[in-house]
Order: sequence, then C-alpha cells, then structure tokens
Amino acid sequence: MRVTIFGASGLLGKALMREWRGDQVTGLGSKDADIRDPQQVVKAVESSRPDWIVLAAAYTDVDGCETNRELAFAVNRDGAAHVAQAAAQHNSRLLFLSTDYVFDGKKITPYEVEDLRSPQSIYGRSKAEAELLIENILPGSCVVRTSWLFGTGGKCFPDTILKLVSTRSDIDVVDDQRGSPTYAIDLARAVIQLCRKGAEGIVHVTNRGECTWFEFARAIVSAAGLKTIIHPTTTDKFPRPAKRPKYSVLSASSLNHYGVGMPDWQDALRRYLVERSSDAKPDF
Ligand SMILES: NC(=O)c1ccc[n+]([C@@H]2O[C@H](COP(=O)([O-])OP(=O)(O)OC[C@H]3O[C@@H](n4cnc5c(N)ncnc54)[C@H](OP(=O)(O)O)[C@@H]3O)[C@@H](O)[C@H]2O)c1
Repeated sequence: MRVTIFGASGLLGKALMREWRGDQVTGLGSKDADIRDPQQVVKAVESSRPDWIVLAAAYTDVDGCETNRELAFAVNRDGAAHVAQAAAQHNSRLLFLSTDYVFDGKKITPYEVEDLRSPQSIYGRSKAEAELLIENILPGSCVVRTSWLFGTGGKCFPDTILKLVSTRSDIDVVDDQRGSPTYAIDLARAVIQLCRKGAEGIVHVTNRGECTWFEFARAIVSAAGLKTIIHPTTTDKFPRPAKRPKYSVLSASSLNHYGVGMPDWQDALRRYLVERSSDAKPDF
C-alpha cells in the first residue's frame, strides 16, 4: 500500500512516520506541499500516487485561530478541501484528522459520531466545515476525531506542566473542562489500523478514560515522581481567546466497530514519560 501523510512534521505526523511499517509512506510538511495551494497538493499526490492519504496537517493554535481567522479557514477548511479534491481525482482513499472541538461541550455523556456539530471556536468551526466539505467531495472518506493530543513530537500539555513544575512549587490548573487525553503513538497505531481495515465515515479515537486538566496535571506530576502541589481552579480565572468545550469525551463505540482498542490514558502517560526521558538523554 502507498500512503501519503500531509502534516508529517507535526505531533501526530511524527508518530505516524515512526509507527508505520510495511507500507510505502511519503511524509510531507508545509515546505513540501502547502495545502492552501491546490496545485501544490495535486503535484504531491500525483508524484506519490497514494492508495491512502492521511491529512494530519492543520493550523492547530486554537487561540491563534481566533485572531488569524483567515489563516484558520485557509488551512483547516480550504486546505482540507484541496486534499479531498486531489484524492478524488487520483482515486485515493482519505483519512482526515478532526477534533472534539466540533462539539459545544453541553453533553454530560460521551459524544457519539452522529451528535450534532456545534463548534464554539474558530478552530472548531474551521474543522467542522472541513468535515462537511470532505463528506461532499469524497463520500466514503474517514474522519477521525481525537482530543487532548500529547506526545514527544511537539508542544503538548504534559510537557508544559513538566517545564512549569521545574521552576514552581505549586500551580493552578482548570478543573472544569473534562475530556480524554490521547497519546500520539496510540492514535497513530489506531489510524494505521483504520486505513488497513478500509474505515469509512466518522470514527472517534482517544485513549480510554476521562479526566479534567487538573486531574491530568496531578497524574503527570505524580507519575514523574514530583511533589509539586496542583490546585484546582476554574476556566473563568484563566480567560483565553477561544472558548473550549466543558465536556468533550468522545464515545469509543465507532472505534470498537472496527475491532480497534485503545489503552487507558494513565498507561499512555507512563509510556510518554519513558519516551520523553529517553529522548532527553544525550546521544553518545
Ligand atoms: N493537538 C491536539 O490536541 C489535537 C486535538 C484534536 C485534534 N487534533 C488534530 O490532529 C491533527 C494533528 O495535530 P497535531 O497536534 O499533530 O498538529 P501540529 O503538531 O500542530 O502539526 C501541524 C502539521 O500541519 C502542518 N501544516 C500546517 N500548516 C500547513 C499548511 N498550510 N500546509 C501544509 N501543512 C501544514 C505542519 O507542517 P510544518 O510543521 O512543516 O509547518 C505540521 O506538520 C490536526 O488535524 C489537528 O487538528 C489535534
């Protein structure tokens, strides 16, 4: 199988490049093909002739999207449409990465794939509109929604917390947003399996279990063997440009349908910390 990954230089993209074996994989960053430019996308697809395209490229700065709206829609919505058009022209299957931020967070039970989109931020809107365009341009595409991504390939919450606690004896973390952390390696493995199984439609993929950011931070500090005190606080004490859903746990039933299981987030966190500490060791 030939596979082309847009966004191969990102957090998930790096994990995909590391985990994908046994197929012919082409990884592209924005310098190889800027998805805002349909001609660059077509050229990249023509030269790699993929059976599957994985679209992990996005403008992921959720607060930045509020002030750079044009860029958010140009990359996340229009860029996604360009990739879907190129996939349709070249008979490639498409797997598009989307987000829990397509939901408003008003539910109190896990979001199912058929729940209505109601994004509260520009980032969420740009991804929700991309999902709809992709469904129209290339019916049968697979849309994988994930949440709270972490890993060693880029900026992420556990890394931020570990850097913060190295200089502080206590920190405040919000305790009124609930979701499911997702380790990039586990998500990459699930994406690979979904492509191999020919998945279609929307699939929710996160690590198993749920927590608040406060509970996540407390687990990070404790798993790292640190004594820093984490205080629970509320979102209104930390005003941010983009509104986040209060609750965005994604139901696993769409993933279970494909017989793909995910480890729980605490187990994923332990493996992340091992990977992070081995990455930090000098290379000699
Ligand atoms: N991070 C999360 O918590 C989270 C949560 C839910 C869903 N997701 C979704 O999961 C996917 C992967 O996220 P991530 O955290 O791995 O992203 P990331 O680390 O921010 O990486 C973004 C990737 O997109 C590429 N990119 C950005 N603008 C581009 C453009 N104009 N043309 C081509 N490529 C472009 C970047 O390439 P360069 O580095 O070469 O510029 C990079 O490879 C995204 O679709 C995101 O929306 C992420």
